[in-house]
Amino acid sequence: MNVLMLSPGFPEDMPYFTRGLAQAGARVVGVGDQHPDQLPPLARDALADYVHVGELWNESAVLAALRHRLGGQHIDRVETLWEPAMHLAARLREQLGAPGLDVERTRAFRDKVHMKHVLREHGVRVPHHARATTAADVRAAVERIGFPAIVKPVAGAGSADTLRVDDGAGLDAALAALRHVPEVAVEEYVDGEEFTFDTLSVGGRPVFENVAWYRPKPLVARHEAWISPQAIVFRDLERPDLQKGRALGRQVLEALGFDSGFTHMEWFLTPQGEAVFGEIGGRSPGGRLTHGMNHACAIDLFAGWGEVVQHGRFSQSTDRPFNAAMIFKRAQGEGRIQHHWGLRELLEAYGAHVAHLDLVPVGQPRRDWTQVVTGDGWIVVRHPDLDTTIEIADRFAADLRILAG
Ligand SMILES: Nc1ncnc2c1ncn2[C@@H]1O[C@H](COP(=O)(O)OP(=O)(O)O)[C@@H](O)[C@H]1O
Ligand SMILES: [Mg+2]
Repeated sequence: MNVLMLSPGFPEDMPYFTRGLAQAGARVVGVGDQHPDQLPPLARDALADYVHVGELWNESAVLAALRHRLGGQHIDRVETLWEPAMHLAARLREQLGAPGLDVERTRAFRDKVHMKHVLREHGVRVPHHARATTAADVRAAVERIGFPAIVKPVAGAGSADTLRVDDGAGLDAALAALRHVPEVAVEEYVDGEEFTFDTLSVGGRPVFENVAWYRPKPLVARHEAWISPQAIVFRDLERPDLQKGRALGRQVLEALGFDSGFTHMEWFLTPQGEAVFGEIGGRSPGGRLTHGMNHACAIDLFAGWGEVVQHGRFSQSTDRPFNAAMIFKRAQGEGRIQHHWGLRELLEAYGAHVAHLDLVPVGQPRRDWTQVVTGDGWIVVRHPDLDTTIEIADRFAADLRILAG
């Protein structure tokens, strides 16, 4: 099978998926704006061919380059797991006659207002919401929805430009801060804990499911530098507090007509016990969560996805031997990393439970954690018992201090 893989080398999880496709037996043709010399080896080794385009967002130019390069070759699938490339993938599917999400169904996964509109029509509990392009529209929407409210870009990512407004002064400040955003979604602020619902689906049916718990909510983590954010991948998906969210998730997939591949949904569990939809992407989760799921389940979902695309089945185990906690670190101080304070003691105490440890090495410049979820390093710890997993995660969050200077 000939599979076009958009952006096979970027961002960081894509080379693993590209390799997964090749492992499943697909003939993978990459399309991307990365120079061939910059492709990570994992991706390069998995590609049968690579079409280098100047700009991935110029759809007609990409299509012309592909037609020229592919000649009469038939393309069986067009794949991407990178959110910004989803629209291009849909366009190429339509143009090349490949199955999968078309442009219209993709819009429901990309545009946060349209998404909630479609879901509400299907009876899904979504936050009250409105679309706004002017300050007056935003004010009118907040008037209707009430405080506290959320104002955010309609096609945002990583909580960028996402603001909670609690009163009139907050609204004025938000309007000033969001002047550069042409179109925003205004929403009712939903209180409570925030979770994911991730699936790998075949023919509209999840063959693998996952729920992770954000500690704290991404919006809080985004605004507080001192926090080491965590994502806890649950071992036990049958926990009573997760059932409404899982049911909501399946309802959403059906309403949006999702077929095959990865999905990543976010949902809230309110203090009253209600599950409320947050957002969904027709792709794998960011924040390296696919690695977290792999560690919890002791499987390889990159290869599993490749098998789904190539063969329409998932044959790996769905047992979940562990809970996995991902911890993302942010250095203290500016400049270069000087010291991983507390690491030796933590590894002595918990080394047996550390599945992954990737810290920015001493001597390297510290990173901008508002731009890179993994910040100055990430750790995955795992344990069959949830409380123990959280206890170990909290030790790495509090006792590992990455010092820059
Ligand atoms: N209506 C809402 N109520 C409460 N929190 C929200 C709401 N919308 C967004 N958030 C917070 O902002 C974060 C980012 O918003 P989201 O819609 O997920 O956009 P992104 O694409 O940036 O992830 C969410 O993870 C959540 O913590
Ligand atoms: Mg989100």
